[in-house]
Amino acid sequence: MRAFDSNFIFGGATAAYQAEGAVNIDGRGPCYWDEYLHRPESRYNGDIASDFYHKYKEDLQLSKDFGVNGIRISIAWTRIIPDGKGEINLKGIDYYNKLIDECLKNGIEPFVTLHHFDTPLPLYKEGDWLNRENIEHFVRFARVCFENFGDRVKKWITINEPLSLALGQYVIGHFPPNIRYDIPKSVQAMHNMMVAHSKVVELYKSMDLKGEIGIVHILQSKYPISESEEDKRAAYLEDILANRFMLDACLGGGYQAETLKVVQDILKANNGSLEIEPNDMEIIKSAAGKNDFLGVNYYASDFLAHYDGETEIRHNGTGDKGTLVFRIKGIGERVINNDIPATDWDWPIYPKGLYDMLMSIKNDYPKYKTIYVTENGLGYKDNFENGKIYDDERIDYVKNHMDAILDAIEDGVNVQGYFIWSLMDLLSWTNGFNKRYGLFYVDYDTQDRYPKKSAYWWKKVSENKKLID
Ligand code: BG6
Repeated sequence: MRAFDSNFIFGGATAAYQAEGAVNIDGRGPCYWDEYLHRPESRYNGDIASDFYHKYKEDLQLSKDFGVNGIRISIAWTRIIPDGKGEINLKGIDYYNKLIDECLKNGIEPFVTLHHFDTPLPLYKEGDWLNRENIEHFVRFARVCFENFGDRVKKWITINEPLSLALGQYVIGHFPPNIRYDIPKSVQAMHNMMVAHSKVVELYKSMDLKGEIGIVHILQSKYPISESEEDKRAAYLEDILANRFMLDACLGGGYQAETLKVVQDILKANNGSLEIEPNDMEIIKSAAGKNDFLGVNYYASDFLAHYDGETEIRHNGTGDKGTLVFRIKGIGERVINNDIPATDWDWPIYPKGLYDMLMSIKNDYPKYKTIYVTENGLGYKDNFENGKIYDDERIDYVKNHMDAILDAIEDGVNVQGYFIWSLMDLLSWTNGFNKRYGLFYVDYDTQDRYPKKSAYWWKKVSENKKLID
């Protein structure tokens, strides 16, 4: 039977705001989610979340016991620099020092993300990634992190999923500032994030810290729903905007001419344009070859049909199957493929899409070095029965996606690790707490943890380095 390498990372992923809680403790400043999720109509917030801030020792012990040898954590910018650009908060540094040391003590390699959707509130109010000054503030924050943690953290991720963030903020509108259908703003934010990413890569390399740095992108394969030329075109357009625009920037040495032309045409159809400042492309180009790895977040693929109407999006944030609508002017419409199962949140479950994505990175961006699948997992309304969670659906999902990774490895893709989203149940930004992903169930009343059936399965896979039934 096929096996993973002996040093393959079987990791669990988290993010600061979704897991830590403790939002008013030890000098942390607010990020924009703190304000947004405290609107009177909000059904949930991250005040306590999974209380990882206090429970990290227990979570890391549990991780170790269940064969998790890598963890994605993110550093909350506002714990280190509470207002994003002013004083440094030593208590925040102290906390992450302890957390990182505890990871290492347990033999769990920390992969540390600097920005996971959580810009400090004051900087968000000044325009967030649409404001070019955000880039310099972020570079300073990164420097503080490298200086304080760079001796022990050997895997750094600059930004998590520029696309999801920009779409959430300016197109779907389910992330603050809840702007809808503004494709040009989202593309501008993505570009600015890639400039920020590139500057942070350059900074890291100049500090000679002997670790590795990369970025995490959400990468979903795009397929036409039929063989018609029009449907094929819709899939092509969405692939360019959602995947290639970002991959070109971090692996291709800059936007390729075709990518830029397609993106500009989409922007024109949406009455906008992209502003690229004089040095941006040089910075992006220079940093591209210095990325040590690419993080691939993959949950689903999309099936596209031709659409020539106005943008119309309805987010499924409840798990009521069949409620998602996603039609973008100038691109196309995501449609249901009846041959492919989908989650209750209307995400098509298609492991082959992960294989295809990995192969296309290898073939189209041959200069990539290493890939980690940095997020993959099944959001599910888990059933808790007397302390037991029989999440066979999650086991199937993870197993089939890991199998697709083994296929890709066999076909020459250098994948060195897989991180399940998520390590423990945690807050879902736009779904609250009823969409669970964890290997470990969290009882949000008591904050007790319960390993799910998937955790027991995971332990065997990690120990044997092989997929088992
Ligand atoms: C990724 C994010 O986009 O998907 C995570 O990096 C997020 O932060 C995960 O939670 C799952 O998304 P959702 O909407 O199901 O919680």
